[in-house]
Amino acid sequence: MARNGIGLVAAALVGLMAACTPNSGPSPIGPTGAAREPAPGGAIRHFDLTAEPATIELKPGLRINAWTYNGTVPGPTLHATVGDLIDVSLHNHLPEGTTIHWHGIELPNGQDGVGGLTQDPVPPGSSAHYAFVATTAGTYWYHSHQDSLAQLDRGLYGVIIIDPRGEPAPTGTDATLVFDEWPLGLERASPPPATDFAMITYVTFTVNSKTGASITPVRFEPGRSVRLRLLNVGAFDHLIHIDGQPVTIVALDGHTVRGGPATEDALPIGPAERLDVEFTGPNVPLWVHLQDGVPPAADVVVPLLPLGLGLPPIPTHLSAAKALDVFDYPGNATEPVWPKNAVPNKTFTLRLSEHPATGGQSMSPDKTLYEINGATFPGTGALDVALGDFVQITFVNDSGVDHPMHLHGMPFQVLSVDGRPPAGVLVKDTVVVAPNTHLTIGFKADHPGWWMLHCHILYHSVGGMMILVHVGGATRLANLGGPFGGSPD
Ligand code: C2O
Ligand code: CU
Repeated sequence: MARNGIGLVAAALVGLMAACTPNSGPSPIGPTGAAREPAPGGAIRHFDLTAEPATIELKPGLRINAWTYNGTVPGPTLHATVGDLIDVSLHNHLPEGTTIHWHGIELPNGQDGVGGLTQDPVPPGSSAHYAFVATTAGTYWYHSHQDSLAQLDRGLYGVIIIDPRGEPAPTGTDATLVFDEWPLGLERASPPPATDFAMITYVTFTVNSKTGASITPVRFEPGRSVRLRLLNVGAFDHLIHIDGQPVTIVALDGHTVRGGPATEDALPIGPAERLDVEFTGPNVPLWVHLQDGVPPAADVVVPLLPLGLGLPPIPTHLSAAKALDVFDYPGNATEPVWPKNAVPNKTFTLRLSEHPATGGQSMSPDKTLYEINGATFPGTGALDVALGDFVQITFVNDSGVDHPMHLHGMPFQVLSVDGRPPAGVLVKDTVVVAPNTHLTIGFKADHPGWWMLHCHILYHSVGGMMILVHVGGATRLANLGGPFGGSPD
């Protein structure tokens, strides 16, 4: 009887809530401006992504409490061809609101998936729909952009590969290696809040969420081409070395690069960057390893094995190489975005600095303020530009650490580093600005909207290092905070 009574009360409450819904406050603003059709000749690629907690095994005996898309980290790899409609249903089975941002992809502002800027977070138990046309071939990724520090750290990311249209499918091996680190806090039964310092105590380094002997080897056929898509989705700069094998860089941040020489240098890859390399498979095993110089990096060695060869023991000494300077690499992006001799309509200087925090809202978990021109987000304001402007931004790094600066919505070209143009044509969406460096990027403001420009070390963005780029007087689609708690960082 008692149970029935409670059931009746609950049913009555649910009925009451349902009846009240139309007047019980605003509903969240979801993604807007979805494309409906692929480009002529393109296909519709539909994907369902369920954001949900899951236990992930990094190696036998080491399990973490992750947040995932479809139960895996990385989430499913989304494959499409230029011109296809990428059509995604997001189902939120997390205990809090979430979004999906499509890192490096050009799309309408309302599809950009930034909580509190381009949409409200999708509430727990609800779904949202994103759809946009794939415009540029390359290696991209998707991730939550609501409370990103915590949600990315827990595993809410996946890879998007867009193939060129009208080119024969390449033969050979095409492998994706996603580098990440895991905070100690996720090994506990109940993860600490994002504000817990433990969330930035990264103790385990992984490739495709496996570490040590659990890392899956990549197989290749000797004499045929091997493409490795390297992605850094974590917070550390990595130095990736492929022992004894010269490789050619064929893409940076997705954008195709041609004409560069093969190099045996170690490949630097900052947070959120991608770097694709190619080589012809030899008939000996190769080892991809991190040459970062911090102890957990030693657990990341990816065996690359000729087909049919058993797994040899991992060499105990893998050679180190000097670090490649990407700005000196003479490969050229096939689609430059800054015409030669373009005259900028707008120029900005953004000074990046850090200060110990004494408390307050923008403090990062390492108790530091990370500032742009002396302010922390949202006090950093917005860079206002007109549609079609050629915009130049110079970052001046006055702090003691690297800042991988990422612009949403529009790819940029690196125009100069400490006053010197790079050797090649570099088109990117994220660029590492080293301490005591000034680096200038240029882009055409050809997408109206409110776009984020921020450091992709997410505890730096939480600490304030974010600013907005407002193109073409566009209306802002969503606001920070409010009933849905929109918060991009
Ligand atoms: Cu990878 Cu603001 O995003
Ligand atoms: Cu930073």
